[in-house]
Amino acid sequence: MLHREDALIPLVLCLTALPVQGTSTPTWHGEVEGIVEQHCSGCHSSSGPAPFPLRSYEDVANRSNFIEVVIREGIMPPWLPSDSGLPLQSHRGLSKREIQTVSDWIRGGRPIGQSGEVSPKDDRVAGIPEADLSIRMTNQWMIPAEGGKNWGRRERDKRTFVLPLGNDRSLRVREMRYETSAPKAVHAVSFLADDQGHARYVDEREEGPGHYMTGDVNDRPSGELGSVGIGSRSLQLPPGYHWEIPARSDLVMQVHFRPTGRSMPLQESVDMWFVKDEMDSRAVRTLLNMIWRVDVPTGEISKLTESWMLPVDVDLLGFTARGSGVLTELDLTAHFPDGRIVKLLDIPDFDPHWRQTWLLEKSSRLPAGTRVVGSWALENTNDNPRNPFIPLQRYVTARRTGVLATMLHVAAVDSVDDEALKSWHQGMIRSRPAAQKPTVEPDKSPSGQS
Ligand code: HEC
Repeated sequence: MLHREDALIPLVLCLTALPVQGTSTPTWHGEVEGIVEQHCSGCHSSSGPAPFPLRSYEDVANRSNFIEVVIREGIMPPWLPSDSGLPLQSHRGLSKREIQTVSDWIRGGRPIGQSGEVSPKDDRVAGIPEADLSIRMTNQWMIPAEGGKNWGRRERDKRTFVLPLGNDRSLRVREMRYETSAPKAVHAVSFLADDQGHARYVDEREEGPGHYMTGDVNDRPSGELGSVGIGSRSLQLPPGYHWEIPARSDLVMQVHFRPTGRSMPLQESVDMWFVKDEMDSRAVRTLLNMIWRVDVPTGEISKLTESWMLPVDVDLLGFTARGSGVLTELDLTAHFPDGRIVKLLDIPDFDPHWRQTWLLEKSSRLPAGTRVVGSWALENTNDNPRNPFIPLQRYVTARRTGVLATMLHVAAVDSVDDEALKSWHQGMIRSRPAAQKPTVEPDKSPSGQS
């Protein structure tokens, strides 16, 4: 289909559109360079996560037919949430107009135009103050050239690393930036702070840096302190909020990677910026809306929902979602005490590859008594292109912190409500597994957890 169109359109253009081309066809220097620079080059550079650069005229012109397909179909730039949820920061999608501009440029023969028509933006970030704390893995770990034995079942490989923060007092972190030594291999990275030494204990039982386990600590999910994804390596809370890290904590990072065919050294670092001592700020807590156990027979689609009611007013700041390639759709809705229903987050085509923390453009108040309803669709079929099970097999797995989980990052309005929120949440999570009795025994097959 596409090929036929490609062949036809230039012909039509020659016959009908040529006379106006001089005035209406966008040019590289005029419009297209700016769009590519803003929406593509961040990832498509030699040091970025994407496999080839998109910076120069040649980079883009030589791949233009393919580029038109991926932008029209919304595959690039990658961005999972639809616009029907609350507005999110750093939205990556192209507008309809930008897509049309790139299309018109391609169909109009990719004119280069005059350089200097727009001045390309300087992509060095100016004026970032020095970090308050910088930590780095002391030793490298080698990412294997090929996937391990669970490759294909767990759609990506993962490894958890434990980095001592050496903090003798609690920290109020307003921003975290993640730096990887292997940008083409490392995908989502999820964070948690552990002041109990649990992760360190697990880590020390395995040789070399890190361990082959999830980054969860007991009832607490990896991602409690957010996660960074491909092309989004920093987490910045709005002014007035902070992640709280208790004294003497380890930063636990669950790193997802995809082997690239070449063994690569992994030596990651994290920079943190704190809220100034004299500033007032509210701690961000993470609430789990989750399904702790799933059982989807071979070839079936399963829809699951989970809901709970907020005990106190909170301000919602963002979300972190978790699920494997069997998960195809998820959404989160708020049912307000006054009867209003608001879609908070909607992901119509989930892909664990592109997950990250999504922060709201503006915090959103959810009053006490709001019912938060999460729903998930799981497709254990051959029609699901990301199903990790080839051949199909029954998908049965359980995890205390949720096989499927949408984490809500929220802040209570004051310290009294904050205490109430924490104890309510802990009670709710601890009662989950007992409340949802499994109908069959989990089998021993490898799970597709994420
Ligand atoms: C957030 C990072 C990111 C951004 C932004 C991004 N890309 Fe990509 N792109 C990737 C990665 C990573 C791949 C490799 C394929 C994969 O990992 O699924 C890729 C692959 C591609 C491919 C090959 C598709 C394929 O199926 O192999 C094209 C074409 C492409 N990108 C074009 C673009 C264009 C055009 C833009 C801007 C409008 C863009 N990308 C923005 C990360 C990005």
